[in-house]
Amino acid sequence: MGKSLIEAEIAATRDGGVTRVQIRELREELERERAEGRERERQLERYASDLSDIFKAERRRSDQLRESYVATVRALTNAVEARDAYTGKHAERVAAYGLELARRISPALAADPQTEFGFLLHDVGKVAIPDDVLHKAGDLTADEEALMRRHPEIGQEIVAHIRFLDTASLTVRYHHERWDGRGYPDGLAEREIPLAARIFAVGDALDAMTTDRPYRPGTPFGAARAEIEAAAGTQFDPTVVEMLDHIPDELFERLRAQTG
Ligand SMILES: [Fe+2]
Repeated sequence: MGKSLIEAEIAATRDGGVTRVQIRELREELERERAEGRERERQLERYASDLSDIFKAERRRSDQLRESYVATVRALTNAVEARDAYTGKHAERVAAYGLELARRISPALAADPQTEFGFLLHDVGKVAIPDDVLHKAGDLTADEEALMRRHPEIGQEIVAHIRFLDTASLTVRYHHERWDGRGYPDGLAEREIPLAARIFAVGDALDAMTTDRPYRPGTPFGAARAEIEAAAGTQFDPTVVEMLDHIPDELFERLRAQTG
């Protein structure tokens, strides 16, 4: 039987000349491995840096996309509001009130940009309502009333094909539904109505009551709150109304001042 590797090592160790050669070879091998290790480290650093660049570029693109979405929604909202000098920034105020409520009811819903888009665009269907009906001072005829009540459906038709507004379009369609099922266009009741639309209804009523109109001054927040509470379970979702209690008047006043 020949010598084992260990025996060969021991024999080699006894011979000083061979040992020095081996040590040199081992050192060279170690150095090679260290160099390879450093190269791998540099390669990993390059990968990490490339990934970070890709991530930053991706985030920039997504920010730009989001900004274009917001700009598009604001342009559409302004196009609707420009026709009604009395309501002014109604959509922006309702969106601010609605988001404040949504944050307390469902943070995930509040964080979804489509929730705010739906609040802002709720009346986009009014672009199809003629001025003489939209701005009529007296009572509407039955036909005019029927036409006016079509604005949620028309609004949904306008935005439903825009993919970044598909969920928002539900608030547009259902913003006049009532908790007791006596709203329109579909007479949905209670939780059949999408949550965003139920929240919107409360924010909308709050703004409608507290905003000055040519024929009457706005109601103070406290009084508007009492009226909304009285309609909990009939017009409004009682859970949403309950949440209204947790938001102080000062916060609504600040939001109103910020939106103008
Ligand atoms: Fe409406």
